Amino acid sequence: MWRPPERVKYEPRPGPWPDRARAAKAKLFSPVDIGSITLLQRTWVPAMVPWRATDDGHMTEDLLAWYERFARGKPGAMVVEATGVRDIPSGPLLRIGHDRFIPGLKKLVETVEDASDGETRLFIQIIDFLRINRRPPAEKFFERFLEITDAHRKYFYDELSDDKIRAKLSGLNDEALAEALTEREHHSLTYGYRERVSDLHLPHIRELPETLPGLFSSAAVRAREAGFDGVELHYAHAYTMASFLSAYNTRDDGYGLDRDGRVRLPLEVLAEVRKAVGDDYVIGCRYLTEDCLDSGMTNEDSVYFGTRFAEAGMDFLSLSRGGKFEDAKQPKVGAAAYPYTGRSGYECMPQYISDEKGPFGRNLPSTANIRRAIRAAGHQTPVVAAGGVHGFEEAERILQDGEADVIAAARQTIADPDWFLKAKLGLGGEVRVCIYSNYCEALDTRHKQVTCELWDRENKDEPGIALSDDGRRRLLPPDWSPPQSR
Ligand SMILES: Cc1cc2nc3c(=O)[nH]c(=O)nc-3n(C[C@H](O)[C@H](O)[C@H](O)COP(=O)(O)O)c2cc1C
Ligand code: SF4
Repeated sequence: MWRPPERVKYEPRPGPWPDRARAAKAKLFSPVDIGSITLLQRTWVPAMVPWRATDDGHMTEDLLAWYERFARGKPGAMVVEATGVRDIPSGPLLRIGHDRFIPGLKKLVETVEDASDGETRLFIQIIDFLRINRRPPAEKFFERFLEITDAHRKYFYDELSDDKIRAKLSGLNDEALAEALTEREHHSLTYGYRERVSDLHLPHIRELPETLPGLFSSAAVRAREAGFDGVELHYAHAYTMASFLSAYNTRDDGYGLDRDGRVRLPLEVLAEVRKAVGDDYVIGCRYLTEDCLDSGMTNEDSVYFGTRFAEAGMDFLSLSRGGKFEDAKQPKVGAAAYPYTGRSGYECMPQYISDEKGPFGRNLPSTANIRRAIRAAGHQTPVVAAGGVHGFEEAERILQDGEADVIAAARQTIADPDWFLKAKLGLGGEVRVCIYSNYCEALDTRHKQVTCELWDRENKDEPGIALSDDGRRRLLPPDWSPPQSR
């Protein structure tokens, strides 16, 4: 993963924990309305893929156990990992693109309901993504993938056959190749081919505005059928909908270029989902305050988009940051680029090795700007903040200062899924505090079962402990129970 060159090291700073009386008065543990439902507290576990679904996108016992463990911490809300809206092979990514996925998802809903004693509201993040290929070996790229064009013919000033051109290209060094190939071809050679929303020459990309509203709305209907309290439309990071919102969206068919064009499809998807699930079902979205790319999407853009979403009836806005393909690290031959490996990836999940700003709360100023603008426009849409929150005082300050309405914590909750509950019960001293090492994220990058280095070796050889595929790590955090039930 990319890290800031300053390499300043940070220790976690959870600050003082409240006693039970202070926690009882805290805004963090007070209810908040989200659309037609109420969260019992303003604590939120955002979407995180733990890589436990089957290779064909189905629920597993390990996945149920993962969410069961998190639900025992009784957060106000939990969002189930990014779940694919299409019925296509997507590796071990959870899917909701067909009715056959409903029974497994229903089990998940029941599991969370039981484990949280009905206290946690459950949403599911629904995602679409475009094709990305592994970086090819150069010989294969020139032999099989590259389409020979007049530009290549012109480069060699010669009437060569396509085969000869392929052979000649494969003999060029990288500098010459950068000249002989278009930027896109060169990128496909050196990073792997990746579809973009601006590829209007491809019929299935051109037709995304016709296909995506239906795919998202059918997925939302299935989520409602499975018993989820709502859906979170994934409009963030490196995926299709975020690419529509992106400043790099050069579509000239009314769905790109300026802000109104870029936000058009995300609004049309919302409208179609709303039509399908009705007014009393929660529809929110996750999107970016900034994409953290050069000349990319700015906070002014996201303020505008947030106001449009609020006006169009989005029930919550969950804000993330960065996480794009455009600045991802070059993959090795045979591997695919991963969106959390560049500078924008760092901004999404900042690590303890950081710069003068540090890894905590980097997304808060721009999140607060969005909330302020939405309120100024007369909308009460709740705003969910995330990024390095790992202590009660900071969470409470964010709420008291009106920077957000709900506090999401991803890695702190992996480190200790009971941490909200411990803080609420005045037992904050027992919290296992995240050190922001990004060990979990490194596992995620390699699509390996996600665990935390603070607990995955603890008592792992005791009977009945589920272990990772390599047998080296326990899959779930150790049990914890509040004093009265000990
Ligand atoms: C293992 C892992 C998986 C993640 N998967 C998702 C995901 O599926 N969807 C999403 O919107 N964000 C995902 N994220 C990002 C988190 O939701 C969160 O925005 C980010 O980690 C910053 O919050 P934190 O500082 O509290 O960890 C993931 C993060 C981690 C560590
Ligand atoms: S591995 Fe554990 S300590 Fe490290 S960032 Fe992830 S949750 Fe935090």
